[in-house]
Amino acid sequence: MARISLFFWGILIMGCWAAIVEAEYMKYKDPKQPIYARIKDLMKRMTLEEKIGQMSQIDRIVASEEVMKKYFLGSVLSGGGSVPAEKASAQTWIDMINGFQKGSLSTRLGIPMIYGIDALHGNNNVYKATIFPHNVGLGASRDPELVKRIGAATALEVRATGIRYTFAPCIAVCRDPRWGRCYESYSEDHRIVQAMTEIIPGLQGEIPANSQKGVPFVDGKFELISNYSPIWLLVMRDGLGRPVRKTLVLLKNGESADKPLLPLPKKAKKILVAGSHADNLGYQCGGWTTTWQGLSGNNHTIGTTILSAIKNTVDPTTEVVYRENPDPNFVKSGEFSYAIVLVGEPAYSETFGDSLNLTILEPGPATITNVCGSVKCAVVLITGRPVVIQPYLSTIDALVAAWLPGTEGQGVADVLFGDYGFTGKLSRTWFKTVDQLPMNVGDKYYDPLFPFGFGLTTKPTKAT
Ligand SMILES: *[C@@H]1O[C@H](CO)[C@@H](O)[C@H](O)[C@H]1NC(C)=O
Ligand SMILES: *[C@@H]1O[C@H](CO)[C@@H](O)[C@H](O)[C@H]1NC(C)=O
Repeated sequence: MARISLFFWGILIMGCWAAIVEAEYMKYKDPKQPIYARIKDLMKRMTLEEKIGQMSQIDRIVASEEVMKKYFLGSVLSGGGSVPAEKASAQTWIDMINGFQKGSLSTRLGIPMIYGIDALHGNNNVYKATIFPHNVGLGASRDPELVKRIGAATALEVRATGIRYTFAPCIAVCRDPRWGRCYESYSEDHRIVQAMTEIIPGLQGEIPANSQKGVPFVDGKFELISNYSPIWLLVMRDGLGRPVRKTLVLLKNGESADKPLLPLPKKAKKILVAGSHADNLGYQCGGWTTTWQGLSGNNHTIGTTILSAIKNTVDPTTEVVYRENPDPNFVKSGEFSYAIVLVGEPAYSETFGDSLNLTILEPGPATITNVCGSVKCAVVLITGRPVVIQPYLSTIDALVAAWLPGTEGQGVADVLFGDYGFTGKLSRTWFKTVDQLPMNVGDKYYDPLFPFGFGLTTKPTKAT
């Protein structure tokens, strides 16, 4: 009798013990378990509400620690320009994201959320981030290794704000520049787009050979992100070099090859810099910079305008005169050795950037004719795509497509003044008139102003 009783109690205690162990052991949190076993275990535990929450992504504007906890949300994003505060520091970003994460980790199952951002050309929603050239320019560089390095640099700047997920790269193959998202595309040729997907290993970093893909999405051991220090990687503006240099495409250089205008001499008596895009970081960066559609002016981003880069580059004895839109008499009487005209498109992105005429921003055409009418001029286009230029081409001495170079305007000056040579090649067909569009390389009817792949080269000037 006693023995039976002891046996009974033994069973009971063992049962309780097993229950305690079971409560403590969560298979899905065990990194030693195979990934599919962990997913199966987690899914079995989840309620319908939890599953719905995990499949939802909300903008940070409606997110909070409480909301994350209450609705079991799987993900939060910053839409274009959705920032915790104007000119927010990295620490402000990290504090915000850690707050959301705390809410997620305090839920019953403790599934961490993932935070995503449109870091399309650098961590472009974030003040002080390095803004790299948009994809259209990177396509012109034809340099997958460069793009990979930009991906790695972008990843560092994204992680410095506590974020591990970017909605990039865009691998659209834009076949019609009238589309407002055309600059997000590396090329009209899918082979160039394919080659540029090398940015993906740059963004991801090297994945360890023994890693289980997909683990971050269900890993219960996800720690808070606070151990990333809020370093700003401004050092990259020397360290990474200036990718802009490789994105510039030289379309015209003097009337003949033996009389090139570029590279420009650094030493001259007096030079003129003109145009709506000479001193405008917002235009230089284009859309998806600080806000969704981008901005105009120099107050929203840290960087170097092309005007200040020109001033930094010329000989200290060279007088640099800047007029946004000089009248013809001012140009005629100015005795300028040469002029640099920077014109192009305003900042835009999807929808608002759709354009049927593809003209440059007014008064760009007048600036070109007023300046180039009486002084040797180099015109630099700051645009997300080929634009109407044929009507002015005969008055322009040298023409450069600089695309949307980003915050590092020095890269443009480096090449204009011959510290580096021009090497970029068109990754898009340059049309004569918009009624030719769409027109892409390989089309039966192909009569471009500058064909796909075109780009003159120059050699770096020897330092004197
Ligand atoms: C930009 O900031 C400067 C200095 O704070 C200010 O003087 C200027 O008015 C601002 N410009 C614009 C367009 O907001
Ligand atoms: C060209 O189209 C844009 C966008 O649709 C418009 O804002 C602009 O005024 C047009 N320019 C001309 C010269 O018609």
